[in-house]
Amino acid sequence: MPGLFVTFEGGEGSGKSTQVAALAARLQAHGVEPLVTREPGGTPLAEGIRALLLDPERRPVPLAEAFLMQASRAQLVGTLLRPALAQGRVVLCDRYDDSTLAYQGAGRGLDAGMLAGWNRAATGNLAPDLTLLFDLPPEAGLERRERAAGTTNRLDREPADFHARVRARYLELAAAESSRWLVLDALRPAAELESQVWGIVAPRLGLPA
Ligand code: TYD
Repeated sequence: MPGLFVTFEGGEGSGKSTQVAALAARLQAHGVEPLVTREPGGTPLAEGIRALLLDPERRPVPLAEAFLMQASRAQLVGTLLRPALAQGRVVLCDRYDDSTLAYQGAGRGLDAGMLAGWNRAATGNLAPDLTLLFDLPPEAGLERRERAAGTTNRLDREPADFHARVRARYLELAAAESSRWLVLDALRPAAELESQVWGIVAPRLGLPA
């Protein structure tokens, strides 16, 4: 079985974490045990960085926020992702370096070229084979988050135009590299999205669609 690196991207409340779990369950039902992880976080050190990043009481300046994201990323890639892919495993990652381009780039206004260079350094050029974008209007996502009481984090609380810029940058990234990205309409029912995701992942692993 060849390794496969799939990343999940999207705005707040896009339902992508549900889809990560659904895809993992389908893979397991076919005898494939994926490595499921997330950014920021995924290792003990990186989860510590995540707690700092999402703490509403701390307000890192944009550059500090970007460096912390990269520190988390370098640790995850070095200790988990590379070894797993080298063993031919399927890796499902809830957010990866495109999140930095969208949030710290479009959202915070940091230079895109600079961030792309940092992404390359932190990942050692480890790029996903497939990136699934769960696209939806930011208002719809934030509404979902608010309904699920107590789940908003520091970045969810950014103003509406921040989230609009994040969404627009994601769509630009997807359009610029359409062979890697699949854009999904995150307003569709979860079961429908799950089938769409399976339809693209299964053939890549030689599994029945
Ligand atoms: P999380 O609660 O996991 O949000 P979600 O369920 O929407 O993924 O928090 C992760 C937050 O970190 C999210 O608001 C996006 C942000 N983030 C960045 O700003 N830059 C990054 O590089 C990454 C990986 C995440």
